Amino acid sequence: MHGRLVWWILAFGSCWPIALMPGFGVCRQLLEYIEAKGAADAQALAKALKCAPEVVVGAIKSIQTFENVINVAEVKQQLWQFTKDGQDALQKGSPEVRLMSVIPAEGIAASDLEASPVYKGLGDAAKPSIGQAMKNKWIAIDKSSGAVAYVRKVTEVPDETQKVLAQLQKDPSGKSTDDKVLKDLKKRKLVEQKSVTTYNVTKGSAFTTTLRKGEADLTADMLADGSWKSKDFKPFNLAADGVPVSRGTLHPLLKVREEYRQIFLEMGFEEMPTSRFVESSFWNFDALFQPQQHPARDAHDTFFMTAPETSASFPADYEERVKNTHENGGGYESIGYQYNWERSEAEKNLLRTHTTAVSARMLYKLAQQKPFKPVKYFSIDRVFRNETLDATHLAEFHQIEGVIADYNLTLGDLMGTLHNFFTRLGIHDLRFKPAYNPYTEPSMEVFSYHAGLDKVVEIGNSGMFRPEMLRPMGLPEDVVVIAWGLSVERPTMIKYGYSNIRDLIGPKVDLTAAQSAPLVRL
Ligand code: PHE
Repeated sequence: MHGRLVWWILAFGSCWPIALMPGFGVCRQLLEYIEAKGAADAQALAKALKCAPEVVVGAIKSIQTFENVINVAEVKQQLWQFTKDGQDALQKGSPEVRLMSVIPAEGIAASDLEASPVYKGLGDAAKPSIGQAMKNKWIAIDKSSGAVAYVRKVTEVPDETQKVLAQLQKDPSGKSTDDKVLKDLKKRKLVEQKSVTTYNVTKGSAFTTTLRKGEADLTADMLADGSWKSKDFKPFNLAADGVPVSRGTLHPLLKVREEYRQIFLEMGFEEMPTSRFVESSFWNFDALFQPQQHPARDAHDTFFMTAPETSASFPADYEERVKNTHENGGGYESIGYQYNWERSEAEKNLLRTHTTAVSARMLYKLAQQKPFKPVKYFSIDRVFRNETLDATHLAEFHQIEGVIADYNLTLGDLMGTLHNFFTRLGIHDLRFKPAYNPYTEPSMEVFSYHAGLDKVVEIGNSGMFRPEMLRPMGLPEDVVVIAWGLSVERPTMIKYGYSNIRDLIGPKVDLTAAQSAPLVRL
């Protein structure tokens, strides 16, 4: 067979230590060898290239990166290999023959034999070599002196063992050696059978002895000067991983925000303008019928501004109605909180503590438009609270809020809307618990069973805005406003499996986290 090279080598698997990667020189020599000899055996090649078998495997793998230069077939074979003792036997003679060199015709005491350097040099093969010499009838045991001694029975000791080992070295498949002999050599631990990988290398359709490194890129210059025509190009490796593209990525919070926004838009809600982080106490609290002594209005819970410290103007008539409602119910079938409302409290600027401040502004604006038109509003933005920071609380977070203003809405409308909203998020099993907000009555906390966490978790807060909040704004008496709110962080943490909020947002966030976050969580 022309150009066929069969050779064997221990299989090293496909991973190749870079340090042993053969250079181009070895590859060229190998190819020239195939070119010249057509066919050769393994040892001849290894000898010819004067390099370790691993280097030859490396050369083959390198050549294979050039298309069709060589064909390589991998064949697994069971081959006989020499143990250390086997190699010694091949080179220095079998253990039994070497043993004979210290056994004279007149005999040697066992103790003297064991003390001899030759015997010691045989190592593990020493003791079995006595048995072998006995079996060959080369020696006999003599106990006439009382102690054990060995006497020599023959003059010539032809080394049959060495002969068969030499034969096995020539043909490691063992085919030209008698099975019984092989069994015996194996039992004597001179040889062992190993599974080895053989590579059959043949010339490929594009065989060459001069490998040229192909161009990796087709450049604009090559196109311009026409040099691409005479160049060899490397084949595309379509299985290679691409270089990661440097790009912007949506943070999980932004993805979740977008999901909520889509749901609101599908449900026909309009987004409220939420760009005002700094708000007056008036819009954040007073407009929401939150009394001026309410603990939330303490610096422990709210960040107050130092500059600008106050806001000066609120719609004058509205401010008057808010004041009256706080003080005595303002004539809206309420007795209010029965205290003196101070304008100075309402003027204090703060970082808004909830997006309901935005809803209050929007509802007031709505009330000024006559005639009243029903609306559905939503907002998603940042709020601030002077919280004790821990694994699930930060001083700033994001709120989602939905508001519907229409005639004669009922608690059933609120519950139905919440079902509709949360069903779109894949949350079905809602539970409601009575709650308290200064601005809603009734108020309900919303819970749901979370299969992943295997517990019932709070997912939001809701309620029907009190007349004490809506009537001063000027909304018609039969207009009811239902609303609900939830944080963005909590569902994001549950959805993306964050247990510490600081891994999600803030200075300790790993900058690559957003890039490596899953595109989709099902
Ligand atoms: N503003 C409430 C909060 O901060 C949420 C809420 C919004 C409650 C609307 C009822 C109605 O938690």
